[in-house]
Amino acid sequence: MDKLEIEGGVRLSGEVSISGAKNAALPVMAASILGPGENLISNVPQLRDISTMGKLLAHLGMGYHQEKGKVILQSKNIKAIEAPYDYVKTMRASVLVLGPLVARTGEARVSLPGGCAIGARPINLHTMGLEKMGAKITLSRGYIRAKAKKLRGATIYFDIPTVTGTENLMMAATLAEGQTILENAACEPEVVDLANALISMGADIQGAGTSNIRINGVSKLKPLKYRIIPDRIETGTFITAAAITGGEIKIRNCSPTHNEALINKMRETGTEISAKKNTLVVRGPERPSSEDIKTMPYPGFPTDMQAQFMALMAVADGTSMITENIFENRFMHVAELRRMGADIRVEGPTATVKGTKTLKGAPVMATDLRASASLVIAGLAAQGTTVIDRVYHIDRGYQCIEEKLGGLGARIRRVR
Ligand code: EPZ
Repeated sequence: MDKLEIEGGVRLSGEVSISGAKNAALPVMAASILGPGENLISNVPQLRDISTMGKLLAHLGMGYHQEKGKVILQSKNIKAIEAPYDYVKTMRASVLVLGPLVARTGEARVSLPGGCAIGARPINLHTMGLEKMGAKITLSRGYIRAKAKKLRGATIYFDIPTVTGTENLMMAATLAEGQTILENAACEPEVVDLANALISMGADIQGAGTSNIRINGVSKLKPLKYRIIPDRIETGTFITAAAITGGEIKIRNCSPTHNEALINKMRETGTEISAKKNTLVVRGPERPSSEDIKTMPYPGFPTDMQAQFMALMAVADGTSMITENIFENRFMHVAELRRMGADIRVEGPTATVKGTKTLKGAPVMATDLRASASLVIAGLAAQGTTVIDRVYHIDRGYQCIEEKLGGLGARIRRVR
């Protein structure tokens, strides 16, 4: 099991380039099921989750090839309609093949994802929507089975704005008979990126990025050729790393408009951020001031940045209240930050973080993707050495994090 070893105390400086968005690339890869032929996706990050999705699509009979930032998916023949538990248990986003498979072949069997570190994460809204579109849904031996000769357009109301739920049903609706309306849909930039990819295939979609999306079904779609947007969570992670170390960095190939909630909040902590078209310059304060956050669906403060922001607040001048409204168990990083000397008390969905002057390096353990990012951020500022175990969590969502941070002057190395 690899570990990351970080010697804290270096003010980051220099430039870093942001990779393509994992959570946009995953649904766009699944969308290639809908366009028989050779699909080409560029600016795809080289991550474990991406290769897991590629292997799953290959399991369905598609050709999968990835080199550097390009993915080629040959979807002429779909030979299987089942997403086995082995894939789904390592990556919940495997559920994104459900909608496209039913739309393309009339049937799909997808293993129920099961829980994960941050919560139960059911997919009831995904199946509710497919049912409304005429699919027969059965659950047997841990597998969801959806069957429909031809999906029909329907009006679907999400009682919670679900990102992958919106994406699954948007994909299913592109080949359905008639119009589908998704109400209280997720507005994340990754949803918009998927919609743009589908539109480039010939889909008829309006309103992506708002909570009301209309899809008029078409008879067929052509293969996609699409470039993925930058990863706004990787961007936010580097903004926070610059802030906590009091450094000054330039972040290239990012989309500042996708990080507005975080940038506004970081400015309130005393972090100076100037934004140009696809570049950010971030200058960290001597010591951040404490600020409260509540995670919300986009465009609110992103839940995927909550753990990283908490690491920053752990050394802030004052007390901050951090409320996690999206997932019921997304405070796994608290115990690990406490081992580094953070003063954090959790009560239900709210963590009270009393800033201390410094954190102390310690051996800690990553528990989920973003929690591990928060431990890296804390390690960058801590006195002494921090060793993070189970870094495979980090490799799921961050491409070459030690190279990128090392390029900014951080003393960080991977220990095999
Ligand atoms: C997506 O997960 C992201 N993953 C997550 O990023 C992100 O944290 C999350 O959206 C919220 O922004 C991908 O895009 C691959 P949801 P998703 O459905 O779609 C409840 C990362 O770090 N819900 O928007 O699974 C659910 O339990 C990952 O890269 C239902 O109750 O999240 C949660 O409380 C972690 N029933 C809330 O909605 C459903 O059918 C939002 O979940 C679906 C969701």
